Amino acid sequence: MTSLSNSGASGAPKIAARNVSKIYPTVDGSMVALDDFSLDVADGEFVCIVGPSGCGKSTFLRMLAGLEDISLGTIDIRPGTEPGKPLNSVVFQEYAIFPWKTVIDNVAFGLQMRGIGLRQRQETARYWLDRVGLAKFANYYPHQISGGMKQRVSIIRALANDPEVLLMDEPLGALDAQTRVVLQEELLRIWEETRKTVVYITHSLDEAVLLGDRVILMSAQPGRRLATFDIDLPRPRSIDAMNTPRFAEYRAEIWNQLSSEVTRAMEMQQ
Ligand SMILES: Nc1ncnc2c1ncn2[C@@H]1O[C@H](COP(=O)(O)OP(=O)(O)O)[C@@H](O)[C@H]1O
Ligand SMILES: [Mg+2]
Repeated sequence: MTSLSNSGASGAPKIAARNVSKIYPTVDGSMVALDDFSLDVADGEFVCIVGPSGCGKSTFLRMLAGLEDISLGTIDIRPGTEPGKPLNSVVFQEYAIFPWKTVIDNVAFGLQMRGIGLRQRQETARYWLDRVGLAKFANYYPHQISGGMKQRVSIIRALANDPEVLLMDEPLGALDAQTRVVLQEELLRIWEETRKTVVYITHSLDEAVLLGDRVILMSAQPGRRLATFDIDLPRPRSIDAMNTPRFAEYRAEIWNQLSSEVTRAMEMQQ
């Protein structure tokens, strides 16, 4: 389980995952999904994790979120000084919004769970709806809005919670290419302003390089940490950063290492 750490030193990482392993029991015996994986994330850092399918990315994120037991190792998320703030909020690829609640009630859900009064939670939800151009859809139900809008709702619901860390597992993975670009821009803009600590899983290298301060590459199963890339592109960034030679270099460098892992992962599946 994710545990609270009392070390409040400002230099301490916001997230400290140390020698984390995950072993799943299967019918053929135990399977090592994640092997001795360590990762420190600084306060306000945006870290992207990429790796071949099945390498344990979602497993790791669920462990960070406290949704999955840790087989070996430790995960600490340093709480902030403000009382009552949730330690984490998670955004998944699937639209994890309630079909029976309106858009605004979905966005305000986490705040409601924390016992925040109606007026304040509606105000916060409206602020976020406004930020992503959804104000006029506040009273719509999820089935009345597009996939891109639904995922915006999931993202701003997490942000409205104002968590210590934001955990995202391929949040734009189900969207078409154009919608995806629009949401990437929105994420960039919002992150530049909020400077949340983010762990972001994606299989898009473009997305990882565009959004991340650092990109962590994982090996094919069992997931290990294979390489780290510091993305030294200037901030604030916009989608235009993708058209720079520097961007292409980062992308090529990561792909160079990732492609052999993808091949290895595919061979293992045969
Ligand atoms: N609950 C589970 N029980 C058994 N095996 C699992 C479970 N969840 C995931 N796995 C296996 O663990 C490995 C890593 O899965 P996952 O973390 O979903 O990878 P990724 O997100 O990188 O695609 C895969 O081989 C997957 O089949
Ligand atoms: Mg996954």
